[in-house]
Amino acid sequence: MSKVVGVVIRRFQINRRVIGPVPLKDRDVARFRYGRETLVARGGEGEVFRQKQAGYTMAVKRPRGDVPPQSIGGCMVDLSDYYVRRDGQVLVEVSHPNIVTCYAVWEQNGKMHVIQEYVGPNLFKQVERWGKGSKLPLPQALFIVREVALALEYIHNRRMAHADIKPENILIDHLFERDEWPVVKVIDFALSRRPGQRLSVESDTRMYGTPNYMDEDRLFYEAPEKKHDVYALGIILFELLTGQAVVEGSRPSPAKALLSIRELKAKIQKAELPGEAIRGLILRMTRRLGIIPDGPSLVRYIDENIGDLLQNTRGLSASLNRYFREVRP
Ligand SMILES: Nc1ncnc2c1ncn2[C@@H]1O[C@H](COP(=O)(O)OP(=O)(O)O)[C@@H](O)[C@H]1O
Ligand SMILES: [Mg+2]
Repeated sequence: MSKVVGVVIRRFQINRRVIGPVPLKDRDVARFRYGRETLVARGGEGEVFRQKQAGYTMAVKRPRGDVPPQSIGGCMVDLSDYYVRRDGQVLVEVSHPNIVTCYAVWEQNGKMHVIQEYVGPNLFKQVERWGKGSKLPLPQALFIVREVALALEYIHNRRMAHADIKPENILIDHLFERDEWPVVKVIDFALSRRPGQRLSVESDTRMYGTPNYMDEDRLFYEAPEKKHDVYALGIILFELLTGQAVVEGSRPSPAKALLSIRELKAKIQKAELPGEAIRGLILRMTRRLGIIPDGPSLVRYIDENIGDLLQNTRGLSASLNRYFREVRP
């Protein structure tokens, strides 16, 4: 038994260039159920496959089949389906050039499937390709962070927190290997919610999300807020510029993450960074110096200080400066 829950036709956008609507019909959606697919990645909850149908390459996300249901409040809950479902429900409601476009969601054998545009590798994989420990030049790192900040601005203005900002949830089609700006898009809205809200499957004594990108109060089970998204992006900016992980390990314990976070301010102050303005930005994003509470204020801060932030870089900085000021209002 399967049924199409909703079909959304959106414009396919690369940065601000619209390259045409994708005329996905029910018939095309049906093809995705049986088409030939290639595994792209297996995340904590979902597995993502690439498929080409009706001339378009799409990513299809569905729940992992191997996570046993858990007992929550006396009910058996399939958490991977729960999270993929939430992701799809949020994605069909949002539309922004820096958020992955969702074309359709459907239910098959009681499990949610989400069809999205196929963007490219995630930021973690892209940086890994450059070599472990490599540093991204400042203009490139700032470009990526500002693109994500634009997505956060949009999300936060809709009274939502993403709650799982990390390199694996940011897609980038290329890492400045071509003579054009890369496409940067935020994915995975499984944990997103109204700021401060708890999801029905969450308890207030368990941690949800990724400890490597969580501030101290979230490690102590505080429900996600907008400021936590800005914090996570601050950690990403630090990591892109230094090539060092703030919290090592792919699934560190909260206790281990906490130890690293307690040393964060000293680490940022000691790190070799391209300029004091960028150090100030990272300290503010990670709440060690003043605070940038949400996406709108982060975009404003970067734009108002763009001259200082880029002062040590030449070449790309002039065109980036123009891009920030003129092309992307
Ligand atoms: N639209 C997409 N285009 C390309 N790759 C994607 C897309 N969506 C997800 N992926 C890949 O699949 C991985 C897991 O997807 P995600 O939605 O974050 O699932 P999970 O909820 O399991 O973390 C991502 O890190 C990325 O590598
Ligand atoms: Mg993810």
